[in-house]
Amino acid sequence: MGVAIRGTGSILPEKILTNQDLEQMVDTTDEWIRQRTGMKERHIAEKDTVASLAAAACKRALESAGKSAEDTELIIVATCTTEMLLPCAACRVQKLIGAANAIAFDINAACGGFLFALNTAHHYIASGACRNALVVGAEVLSEIIDWTDRSTCVLFGDGAGAVYVEETISGERSGIIGMSQGSSGMNGQMLYCRGRNVKGATEPEINSSDLLVHMSGSDVYRFAVRQVPICITKALDSAGIGTEDVDVYVLHQANRRIIESIAKTLKTDIDKFPMNIERTGNTSSASIPILLDELHRAGRIQKGQRVVLSGFGAGMTYGACVVVW
Ligand code: UT7
Repeated sequence: MGVAIRGTGSILPEKILTNQDLEQMVDTTDEWIRQRTGMKERHIAEKDTVASLAAAACKRALESAGKSAEDTELIIVATCTTEMLLPCAACRVQKLIGAANAIAFDINAACGGFLFALNTAHHYIASGACRNALVVGAEVLSEIIDWTDRSTCVLFGDGAGAVYVEETISGERSGIIGMSQGSSGMNGQMLYCRGRNVKGATEPEINSSDLLVHMSGSDVYRFAVRQVPICITKALDSAGIGTEDVDVYVLHQANRRIIESIAKTLKTDIDKFPMNIERTGNTSSASIPILLDELHRAGRIQKGQRVVLSGFGAGMTYGACVVVW
């Protein structure tokens, strides 16, 4: 059974935090942030939560697909910043949008999460377990950022994006035609947040820093520029096409220089790698579906085009997906 993306939706919280605002908070400059990352501003949730942002993105994706919440059979939310441990964000989304007939659960694969969720939904539908799904990436990273650490606090933003996927009809050419994903737990120390004092943790006491994100930026950078092109190439191989056959690459928006390096390694023109990082910062699992929605709504992605989605994140995790739109 084939699986196609029928609709997209996204939302960014209203409040904008600019590089100039950050200059007032930590020892940084607009010039440093723009040159090293490509970011100018990011959105920060004030009242919004992971569930409320995810629900808003889902409503827009349903509207874009012309589908109803009641008929939705599966909701998967990729997130690493859900505001409640129980119930999961997907079940709260189910309640907020009124998708009473859906199976709902979360996936945490950090910034790689949306691709892991999409892959899972693909397998559910391809196996016949369900016919459609809402796949969401939603984050309120501002809750776990150390706002005194200039090496991380300038990078991240909040938001949510969703796609509605459905089984294809016989003879249809649209759909997911290739996938690849992987995890490298051996590199887990590159980017982590302990989050809470878990029984059996090595440290007896948790301090407030343990509740925040810690990152070795240059290690993550090197991991991404090496691993993502390999992963994209594997996904393209599984689809039986080459880089020259791809119309648009929708990559995780972590750093403009990372995306430029990946384009160079793939020997592909940077024009095929649209970005919104300037306005959004790194929204982790939400970045790919937010950019996808913006491109779809702007008409930058057209029916029949081949689109590659790819990202990486804490874990370390990485994934790529090839879609015929
Ligand atoms: O979704 C996955 C999540 N994470 C990522 O994708 C992050 C991947 N890594 C990166 O994007 C880059 O490594 C960063 C943007 C985080 C950093 O850029 P870099 O070119 O790798 O810089 P660096 O870490 O090597 O630091 C260079 C200098 C250091 O100063 P010294 O030691 O050379 O004097 C840092 O202390 O820049 C300094 N620095 C800053 N200066 C001004 C670090 N952060 C800042 C800052 N403003 N915000």
